[in-house]
Amino acid sequence: MPERLAETLVDLWTPLIILWITLPTCVYMAPMNQAHTLTTGSPLGLSRQSEELRILNRSKRGWVWNQMFVLEEFSGPEPILVGRLHTDLDPGSKKIKYILSGDGAGTIFQINDITGDIHAIKRLDREEKAEYTLTAQAVDWETNKPLEPPSEFIIKVQDINDNAPEFLNGPYHATVPEMSILGTSVTNVTATDADDPVYGNSAKLVYSILEGQPYFSIEPETAIIKTALPNMDREAKEEYLVVIQAKDMGGHSGGLSGTTTLTVTLTDVNDNPPKFAQSLYHFSVPEDVVLGTAIGRVKANDQDIGENAQSSYDIIDGDGTALFEITSDTQAQDGVIRLRKPLDFETKKSYTLKVEAANIHIDPRFSGRGPFKDTATVKIVVEDADEPPVFSSPTYLLEVHENAALNSVIGQVTARDPDITSSPIRFSIDRHTDLERQFNINADDGKITLATPLDRELSVWHNITIIATEIRNHSQISRVPVAIKVLDVNDNAPEFAAEYEAFLCENGKPGQVIQTVSAMDKDDPKNGHYFLYSLLPEMVNNPNFTIKKNEDNSLSILAKHNGFSRQKQEVYLLPIVISDSGNPPLSSTSTLTIRVCGCSNDGVVQSCNVEAYVLPIGLSMGALIAILACIILLLVIVVLFVTLRRHKNEPLIIKDDEDVRENIIRYDDEGGGEEDTEAFDIATLQNPDGINGFLPHDRRGLLRGIPENAA
Ligand SMILES: *[C@@H]1O[C@H](CO)[C@@H](O)[C@H](O)[C@H]1NC(C)=O
Ligand SMILES: *[C@@H]1O[C@H](CO)[C@@H](O)[C@H](O)[C@H]1NC(C)=O
Repeated sequence: MPERLAETLVDLWTPLIILWITLPTCVYMAPMNQAHTLTTGSPLGLSRQSEELRILNRSKRGWVWNQMFVLEEFSGPEPILVGRLHTDLDPGSKKIKYILSGDGAGTIFQINDITGDIHAIKRLDREEKAEYTLTAQAVDWETNKPLEPPSEFIIKVQDINDNAPEFLNGPYHATVPEMSILGTSVTNVTATDADDPVYGNSAKLVYSILEGQPYFSIEPETAIIKTALPNMDREAKEEYLVVIQAKDMGGHSGGLSGTTTLTVTLTDVNDNPPKFAQSLYHFSVPEDVVLGTAIGRVKANDQDIGENAQSSYDIIDGDGTALFEITSDTQAQDGVIRLRKPLDFETKKSYTLKVEAANIHIDPRFSGRGPFKDTATVKIVVEDADEPPVFSSPTYLLEVHENAALNSVIGQVTARDPDITSSPIRFSIDRHTDLERQFNINADDGKITLATPLDRELSVWHNITIIATEIRNHSQISRVPVAIKVLDVNDNAPEFAAEYEAFLCENGKPGQVIQTVSAMDKDDPKNGHYFLYSLLPEMVNNPNFTIKKNEDNSLSILAKHNGFSRQKQEVYLLPIVISDSGNPPLSSTSTLTIRVCGCSNDGVVQSCNVEAYVLPIGLSMGALIAILACIILLLVIVVLFVTLRRHKNEPLIIKDDEDVRENIIRYDDEGGGEEDTEAFDIATLQNPDGINGFLPHDRRGLLRGIPENAA
């Protein structure tokens, strides 16, 4: 206030209207009529009035003094006097009238137009509107003519402490690590006060803690909350409720206050080692448990939480370190003991392990408190389990010669019950693997014998499965694969590799190769095949043909002379004996049919036909025999057929007879071509659905048997 008065004094030389500023505090304390009295007779503008008039034009200056103040929230019985307008103008005989316009003129502020007194007729709230700009003017009472230019002034609403501090963002939450040192900053909170921060102490806040001591403290000015005790232990108490108060008026009595709550949570640090719940664990496990099965769990408790409670588990000692392993289950925070290698009750019945749990995340600040690990002993007892028989070998390979005698022993499997109460064992063959029942097994001693003859040329491998069953417990079964390989024996004679047709040119030269033949043998000698060829002993000095063995195991047949003629002899039969190199060797005789043909000059067969000569000259001896044999055979078949039919079904005889006849007739009907003239068509009749009547084939097939039979 005194400063404002001084400013007023300095600038007082200009205005025509003098605003007498009421002292709000005085007004506040004094009744209205007294205020009125106070404002009268202001000495200020009067003394220098004439001078001010002279320098009217210089009056445009920032007037600081042209302000009035009115207290907010005033609610007396009468309107409150804000101030008075007064002009030092000499009106002469005229009466002066004061007019007020601008913010709230007439509604909030009322002026007495004669005296110039301004009253606030409404209760004001600084926090709503802090100042009002108004214009004052002095006019002639009669004419309403302005006696001077309008003058603007401000009414400022003066603050009273009518707002309490408020924590706008509360309630608050904060965390601080446990075991923090004293004075560790936790958080800070801020309250706001709507009152005027510039004027008075209405918005000057001081913070204090109402609840939460002695754990936390607050800095009164900055509201920074700190720990007030060292080494607060989360494991003892995790959460604290702090009640904070903000008080205005600098904390003095009579001020207004607001409170909020702050929840402080201590966060975990690794200040606790793991500790096994038991120092000794007992587990038992059947010897036949599957590898990888969990045998048991050990757990070291840790009062910390999260990763600070995490431990890794290890087996650090004991006689079972090779057989067992421990894995850390981070979810359950325990250690799982598993089987790594098979157990055998009959070998070792119990194991001892020393297991260790060690914190993974160690806080170096607390590592001095001792090792952050713990150990426990685990005893594992192996239980006997009824185990299936065990074969002496995981697989067996047996070999047997294909000519092995029935019931001869091929091989033997053995198995034993590993259990202490060793049960006798019975053997059997899984018949799904031996559908033909090729083998038998002696149920007691596991000897495998031959049940049906073997033939390597049919099947080399007989892979069967043998089952071993404990007599005392039929559910204890083991199976073993047995591969039986059939070894070769020379039991097949060699023969022609194909059906050869040989043609001999009438114009051929002596020594010409008529045909090259090769042989095959179903056996499989170790060193491969080597064939020997020879002519029948009685044919060794055959004047017509000779044979010559080739490098590649094949045989060439050569003509000994020239001058072969269809007219003389149409077909030659040459039996050839083929022997293999087995021990003993086997041999067979295959007959090669050689037809004499007419050829071109360069040796291309052109005609093997003999029709022109057959009838007049007659048939060869062999052909004649063949024809006779055919006729006899046909007759026998017909007679047999008819006789059988008659016995079986009388009415059908005639029909069947007719059928037979028809067959013959029909065949004749179809004929008429060149081939009909050949006597060998009878062979076709004899076997109508056989080889389709091509001459060389039929004849050879028919004739080949004769020399063989003879041999
Ligand atoms: C039988 O077993 C033998 C040896 O294991 C194998 O070489 C052969 O291929 C098997 N034969 C069959 C038909 O499974
Ligand atoms: C050799 O051929 C003649 C006719 O060319 C024949 O008479 C004779 O029987 C043939 N010899 C043999 C062993 O086939």
